[in-house]
Amino acid sequence: MSALNHCKSVLDAIGNTPMVELARITRGLDGAVFAKLEYLNPGYSKKDRIARQIIEEAEASGTLHPGQTVVELTSGNTGTGLAIVCAAKGYHFVAVMSRGNSMERARMMTALGAEVLLVDQAPGSRPGQVSGHDLALVEDRARQITRERGAFRADQFQLAGNARAHYQHTAPEIMRQSGGIDAFCDFVGSGGSFAGCARYFKERDPAIQCYIVEPEGAAAIAGEAVTRPNHKLQGGGYAISDLPLIDRQLIDGCLQVSDEDALEMARRLAREEGLFAGFSSGANLAAALQLLDRELRGGRIAILLPDSGLKYLSTDLWLVSS
Ligand SMILES: Cc1ncc(COP(=O)(O)O)c(C=O)c1O
Repeated sequence: MSALNHCKSVLDAIGNTPMVELARITRGLDGAVFAKLEYLNPGYSKKDRIARQIIEEAEASGTLHPGQTVVELTSGNTGTGLAIVCAAKGYHFVAVMSRGNSMERARMMTALGAEVLLVDQAPGSRPGQVSGHDLALVEDRARQITRERGAFRADQFQLAGNARAHYQHTAPEIMRQSGGIDAFCDFVGSGGSFAGCARYFKERDPAIQCYIVEPEGAAAIAGEAVTRPNHKLQGGGYAISDLPLIDRQLIDGCLQVSDEDALEMARRLAREEGLFAGFSSGANLAAALQLLDRELRGGRIAILLPDSGLKYLSTDLWLVSS
């Protein structure tokens, strides 16, 4: 921010999102849930943070040169963040995405100047349900494009900048805004926000309990058999047991959420709190309520609302009778 209190570019508008206590949903319950409105970032998701961090770290280390193309696979949000950061900095960006993700995302990235390459889903996969197999196909294509174009791969599953964005910014904001928490639970895709936030919280206070959230039937990190890889929770739950960014010592427990509970909680966030967020926000809230009901009774729990409900207008999340 300049002294005149305006941003020099959209990059300065990333982060410092508001936090809202979910006072209506938790009325009558013992404890509190604090939700961080990550959908108020410029690309309507928490992934703007990691896009800025990964690109600026690559510039600083010399792995990304002026004029070089940037490539990444995305379920839409990281791609949108990268499209914004690349537009502001003048890089060409190629987003590689599964056809199983909602098309709002592809359209938004295209509008932001990105080249969007859609990859067909694996046989048996369904639109709106991106599985680990689908993701493997997208990964192959992203590698191929990176090689062909001599591009910089903004690899969110591998690069520490992903977790560092949340360690340096998201988690300290949560601590300042909440005045202190007892627990944090987070629906995992790459594991970046869990890893960065949990590391920061544990360093401040090892008593803060950090839980990962996975879809029921795809709880690979919890060590469960994967029986339902095709869940509805877009943005994560890829049933990958060993994510490079996640240090298992940071995990105090694993929680599982059904499609039905996640959808119901996303709808309750909208109707009861006026917070219009996506599937994973519903999953995070469902998990937080499990904790308040059991091991964290009376506790203060922080969650992220990772992205906007606007990204799912074409899905059954909002196709409900009034
Ligand atoms: C909507 C949404 N929620 C949750 C996640 C998972 O976040 P992370 O990759 O930090 O684990 C993602 C990741 O793409 C996402 O897009």
